[in-house]
Amino acid sequence: MRIGMLTSGGDCQGLNAVLRGVAKTLYGAVPDLELYGIQDGYKGLIERNWRRMQKNEFSGILREGGTILGTSRQPYKTIRDVDKNNMDKLSAMIQNYEKAGFDALVILGGCGTHKTAYALSQSGVNVVTLPKTIDNDLYGTDYSFGFDSAVRKAAEVLDAVHSTAAAHGRIFVVELMGNKAGWVTLYAGVSGGADVILLPEIPYALDSVLNVIKARNNEGKNFSIIAIAEGALSIEEAALPKKERLTGDSSSGSRLLKALDERLDQDVRLLVPGHFQRGGEPTPTDRVFCSRMGAKAGEMILKGKFGRMAALRGTSIVSVPLVDVAGKQKIIPLDCEVLSQARLLGISLGEV
Ligand code: F6P
Repeated sequence: MRIGMLTSGGDCQGLNAVLRGVAKTLYGAVPDLELYGIQDGYKGLIERNWRRMQKNEFSGILREGGTILGTSRQPYKTIRDVDKNNMDKLSAMIQNYEKAGFDALVILGGCGTHKTAYALSQSGVNVVTLPKTIDNDLYGTDYSFGFDSAVRKAAEVLDAVHSTAAAHGRIFVVELMGNKAGWVTLYAGVSGGADVILLPEIPYALDSVLNVIKARNNEGKNFSIIAIAEGALSIEEAALPKKERLTGDSSSGSRLLKALDERLDQDVRLLVPGHFQRGGEPTPTDRVFCSRMGAKAGEMILKGKFGRMAALRGTSIVSVPLVDVAGKQKIIPLDCEVLSQARLLGISLGEV
């Protein structure tokens, strides 16, 4: 059996733990297994850049961040663009898969990766996919791996900022990752004790944010912590046509900082932890999740269940057809319980 594996899109914690899980499961069941590592995501499949992996290369990587295979972004919208030989990327991948004699591909990736994986699958490539993204916005699974680890990192930042904010009586705006989906900001905000959580899903009223700060000051709490997702917009910004928004030139955090600075007689600071959130070790919860996911992907290959994504539903790892997943995004639903419970806890979501 000849299997190719690749990791695609932005990295996250836990990719290596999943690769290890797949390898352990397959090496344990298939005596003639040939496992190939495809370098840098779909790019390696397009450029025939892969190599046969040895069993021992999957040892000692359970806790390692990043990906031993490397990764890259390969935008779905250019997948049909032709090169100088009149070959598009999708056709090149299909041709290379066939020439290499792969029996199946294991693909770890997020929303964009899944669109391409579905296109490959529709063209007859045997594909098993795994939901990777700190954003937790992949449709069809309760959680994606990397999310728990990113929340942990983001919460660590919010924890640390509390003491310095309190010491100086400052307002801290902490901008967290998540462009369309605010899951990391919501979970990190709740777990890190943020006073205000601003999400892409709920355009915020600046006055509401100011009222929280004033109310806290009146209670003798001279500092406030605001967790804002990178894709969050004020009500005014959200009302503008996309092209007129200034979001390309500035970050959500810097725009909020400016607006608060102009209105408050108090020191306001911005902290952007950025890729710190995606780095380092996966949490123990993610390690278990990733290992289970890897085992499931191995099992799907052994059973010939292709064209499907391993997914978490409740406490079970199941598999779902790519047709139900590809091209869809799971943003925070407005009736999400965590939102209503955050409100009950007195956290402002910047609503009017
Ligand atoms: O998709 C994961 C993610 O970390 C997003 O939260 C963020 O908007 C984006 O990737 C950053 O991408 P890059 O690493 O390419 O800058």
